Formats: sequence, C-alpha cells, structure tokens
Amino acid sequence: MIRSDNLRSAFIQEDVDKYIYDLLPARDPVVQEMEAYAEEHRVPIIGPAVARLLTLLVQVSGAMRIFEMGSAIGYSTIWLARAAGPRAKVFYTDGNPENARRAQEYFRKAGVSKRINVEVGNALELVKKTPGKFDLIFNDVDKHQYPEALKAALPKLKRGGLLVTDNTLWSGKAARPAAAEDKDSRGVQEFNRLVYASKELFPVLIPLRDGVTVCRKV
Ligand SMILES: C[S@@+](CC[C@H](N)C(=O)[O-])C[C@H]1O[C@@H](n2cnc3c(N)ncnc32)[C@H](O)[C@@H]1O
Repeated sequence: MIRSDNLRSAFIQEDVDKYIYDLLPARDPVVQEMEAYAEEHRVPIIGPAVARLLTLLVQVSGAMRIFEMGSAIGYSTIWLARAAGPRAKVFYTDGNPENARRAQEYFRKAGVSKRINVEVGNALELVKKTPGKFDLIFNDVDKHQYPEALKAALPKLKRGGLLVTDNTLWSGKAARPAAAEDKDSRGVQEFNRLVYASKELFPVLIPLRDGVTVCRKV
C-alpha cells in the first residue's frame, strides 16, 4: 500500500496513521497508477483516506454539481466524479496545462471524461465566472490563497451545500505561531478563523491526514 511522505500525517501517531491506511481496500488500476505517479513525481494528492471522505460526502449529500479548485493530475476529481455518478458535472480546475493534459488521460482511462469539465486557469476566477451554483466545492489550491478562495467560493455554493477544504492543519503548523513570511500557514490559519466566525457556515475540522474542513452553508 502506498503511504508516501505526502500522505503520512504529521500529527497522528505513526502506528495509528499506518493502521488507518492499512484498513483501506485496494484501489482499481487507474487510481493505483495515479497514486504511483504522484509518489514518484511528488504530486501532492489527497490520497485514498481523504478521497473516501469526499466520496462519502458526495453520496450522503447527493451532490451533482461539483466544483474543484486545484485539481492537479485529477486524483481527487476522479473520486468526486465516480461518487457523483454519470449524471453529475464535475469542474476540474488547475493553473498548470501539463497537469490538465495528464488528468484528461486518466479521466479517459477511468471512463469518466463525459462528466468532467476541464478548465485551465486561476480557480478563484473560474469559480466566479462559471455559471450557476454548486452543491459541493472542494478547495485544494495553494494555501496562502485560502482566505481569497473562501471569498470566491462562498457566493457560488448553494444553501445546504458543502465547502470541503484540504490541509487545514497544515502539518500542525496551523496550531502554532507562524512567521510573517510563512504565507501558507498564515493563509490556513486565517481560513480556519474565518469559517468558524462565519454566520453563513457550519464548519467541522476533521484531523484526518493533514486536516480536512467540511463546512455546510446554512
Ligand atoms: C495540492 S494540489 C491538488 C491536488 C488534488 N486536489 C488531488 O488531491 O488530487 C494543488 C494544485 O492546485 C494548483 N493551484 C494552486 N493554486 C491555484 C489556483 N489559484 N488556480 C488553479 N490552480 C491552482 C496547483 O497547480 C496544484 O496542481
């Protein structure tokens, strides 16, 4: 089982973290290929433990229109698209065209291309300009952008919809004083402060892998 450095939690005890990953069932060949590529090329994917949480959230909420901010090689996108089913629309976004090209190849192999819209550019702009609102928005852009990503995403989320954000403990650095130049830690800290202060959101920070915050728009 692949539990690369990226997937290893910085704050869960090593044996407990390994236990969580050892419980996970084997993935299909396409997802396994993506996990191997991500490990070899150090692409920071959410990995299978967080991917299962996304799957569960899509399934229990019945989300059909899903927007993803920061999709890289499309690992999280494939889990979202499979969870939502063939009638769903999932918007993939990434700033890197090479990531998008590779992601499209995986979507084709996984047989989910028809339900995924691939957009290359700034996800914060793309979420604003894509028509309509979303049942679920998954935020995984660069961490210093998290407060701005929240500002962009919130008006585009339906009432009752879910905003799911990865890396909200940021290797535990979210919980400790951050230097002024540590923009990523500061971005995560400000995001966490904003969502818990918001009257529009009901957030829960789940300490799975690197921290995942699930917010329901009330
Ligand atoms: C952590 S990776 C995403 C991993 C992906 N969600 C997964 O789990 O498979 C972050 C990605 O976001 C992209 N990114 C960062 N800031 C962005 C922005 N403002 N707009 C679009 N893409 C962005 C980067 O190019 C990178 O590929």
